[in-house]
Amino acid sequence: MCSDRDRMSLYDRRVLPRLLDLVMRQETLAGYRARTVAAAHGDVLEVGIGSGLNLQFYGKAVSHLTGIDPSAELLAMAERRTAGAPCPVVLVQASAEALPLDDHAIDTVVMTWSLCSIPDPAAALAEMRRVLRPGGRLLFVEHGLAPEPSVRKWQNRLTPCWRHVGGGCHLNRKMDDLIRAAGFEIVSLDTGYMTGPRLLTFLYQGSATPGA
Ligand SMILES: C[S@@+](CC[C@H](N)C(=O)[O-])C[C@H]1O[C@@H](n2cnc3c(N)ncnc32)[C@H](O)[C@@H]1O
Repeated sequence: MCSDRDRMSLYDRRVLPRLLDLVMRQETLAGYRARTVAAAHGDVLEVGIGSGLNLQFYGKAVSHLTGIDPSAELLAMAERRTAGAPCPVVLVQASAEALPLDDHAIDTVVMTWSLCSIPDPAAALAEMRRVLRPGGRLLFVEHGLAPEPSVRKWQNRLTPCWRHVGGGCHLNRKMDDLIRAAGFEIVSLDTGYMTGPRLLTFLYQGSATPGA
């Protein structure tokens, strides 16, 4: 019998995690990370924690952090960065579509540049809503669908190829619509381009509550 791990290509296991860490470490993302994570408090869940690049930005208001990611290789990199965190950190190999947490166990869900790569974003957001306490917050910064038809056209055209080399990344997800469709109420939202190629740099940054 062949396990899922056996079926993963050498690219997925060896190259992609190092590439993601390198790309996501770029200095231009640091300000977005700091601003997104700043309001995190209490029991925090970070969805798609990757190589742990947000860990240095959490403050003392965070009492416990659970980081989940399906990639064992990225979690191993994140483990090496837990020394910089201000609270106990537990890293779990899991998918956002099936969170290994009880209902209403979490005060803050943090998600940075992960929803683009999650195969079933609606299921993942439903899970985030399930685990958040009433009045809890989803804090996010994600790249996604741009407003200009000319950019959107290329985002739609390139996504089927791009996601094979980009770890499942979709260029064309309209993040605020996905978040609202899952039953969240958006509390704040900033959109706009950061520096870099337009196909990849239209950002949705904000916060949302689980709604009624
Ligand atoms: C572009 S990386 C971003 C990593 C990290 N959030 C950061 O800001 O550096 C996308 C992340 O989404 C994760 N991911 C992909 N599918 C996922 C899923 N089903 N559930 C949770 N995370 C997932 C990847 O393993 C990867 O860590």
